[in-house]
Amino acid sequence: MKGRSSQQALLVLGGQWGDEGKGKVVDLLSAGFRAVVRYNGGHNAGHTVKFGDRHFALHLVPSGIIHGGSRCYMGACMVVDPLALVAEIADLEEKGVDVNGRLTVSPRATLILPTHQALDVARERARGTSSIGTTGRGIGPAYQDLAQRRALRVGVLTEPEQLAADAVALMQSHNRELDLLFAAPPVDIEQSLRSLQDAARMLSPLVGEIGPALGRHAERGDPILFEGAQGIMLDLYHGTYPYVTSSSCLPGAAAVSCGIPVGMLGPALGVMKAYVTRVGGGPFPTEIEGAVGDRLRERGNEFGTTTGRPRRCGWFDAVAARYAARVGGLAGVALMKLDVLDGLEEIRVAVGYRTADGRVLAEPPADARKLEDIEPEYATLPGWGATTRGITKEGDLPPAARAYLEFFEDHLGVPIVLVSTGPRREETLIRGRSALADRLRGAVHTVEEAAAAP
Ligand code: GDP
Ligand code: IMO
Ligand code: MG
Repeated sequence: MKGRSSQQALLVLGGQWGDEGKGKVVDLLSAGFRAVVRYNGGHNAGHTVKFGDRHFALHLVPSGIIHGGSRCYMGACMVVDPLALVAEIADLEEKGVDVNGRLTVSPRATLILPTHQALDVARERARGTSSIGTTGRGIGPAYQDLAQRRALRVGVLTEPEQLAADAVALMQSHNRELDLLFAAPPVDIEQSLRSLQDAARMLSPLVGEIGPALGRHAERGDPILFEGAQGIMLDLYHGTYPYVTSSSCLPGAAAVSCGIPVGMLGPALGVMKAYVTRVGGGPFPTEIEGAVGDRLRERGNEFGTTTGRPRRCGWFDAVAARYAARVGGLAGVALMKLDVLDGLEEIRVAVGYRTADGRVLAEPPADARKLEDIEPEYATLPGWGATTRGITKEGDLPPAARAYLEFFEDHLGVPIVLVSTGPRREETLIRGRSALADRLRGAVHTVEEAAAAP
């Protein structure tokens, strides 16, 4: 069972600071997967799916829901705002996506309450200039309650009396914290409880253990796709701490989240942009200020899917990417947004970090504050005048774009198996003859077929 499932499974995760295009990749591949599992984070995530003239933004529900054939699961390591989940499901249904009977949420996932959100906002405000720039969704406070072993978990949604007692007690404690630590106004507990109870009635039928369900998929030989949120550089342990999210984004977290052996996960496909963005605070060695940064932001439409905030833009950082490839054990990279670089005269790639005392670092330091003092060493490559938008065959790419891909691979030591040349499903090429590339081809069948799918 294990050998079979590991050949069938695939894990898609962000290889940078989030927003790499995971939603597009998961949606594209989900044609070839019977089960799709989101394993970390909450509605801080915003995963975009586009095809034809359709446009979806997924926050909690796996991006595989759009493709009619996949069963979707949300794992124990997620933090779930029940009100946000109800709204997201309603929005999907309104857009014609059938969620009914296709989504299961682990009873072990942590609940985000309205007071978590208020605490997130109050804490950020109190941090002042050293704020993390969180999405303000209550993610950090909810994971904090989990670690303190006082959180409510999704399973309690099926027990109305317990839900009322536990939610009121925790929200009262949060309100005391809001008052004493932040002089912030309290959250209306009665009204919050009523909304929670309404959401609980709607979500109760979705609650179920996901490990056994995934085990049954594996027994049948169903391929399983694991969908990460955020990215390796935002990982709580291995990212640029403290400017990170509050969950682990790494492949291993998927096994923890589902309660399944790591052997069931399959190879990891790291999604990376051909440049870099990050939202919120924190060090960003290759950030571009001024006209070129603004051009990338405009061409790449770099505004947050969740918060609408402008994303900071920078040159591709091969030092961080190599580190991410090592930490995430990436078997391949999906390189996104190549088209956004079209028309640039030259393209820079950071290949080393030079410290103030002249040393060159091979990897980002564990202490992210030290990143503030490093100077990236850049390689400069020629750009290409022609457009790459919508190209689906490698041979049709301008020679300078192909050279960019090869340079990239040399520095990463990981093959680029997928190149994205536009936001839509159909604007994609699968590259090379590696086992992973063939696996992706098998999942998509043909990109044209995927584009035509509902
Ligand atoms: P995710 O969080 O990793 O799923 O990424 P987001 O959806 O937050 O952000 C990626 C953005 O880039 C979305 O607006 C996508 O529609 C868009 N996108 C994805 N791939 C491409 C591409 O190859 N070219 C262009 N121009 N846009 C893309
Ligand atoms: P997807 O899945 C980009 C960032 C926030 C902030 C930090 C902590 O769409 O790639 P949090 O609200 O998690 O406590 O914020 O993490 N962040 C993301 N940035 N994409 C995301 O998700 C993100 N989720 C969190 O901007 O800097
Ligand atoms: Mg996003």
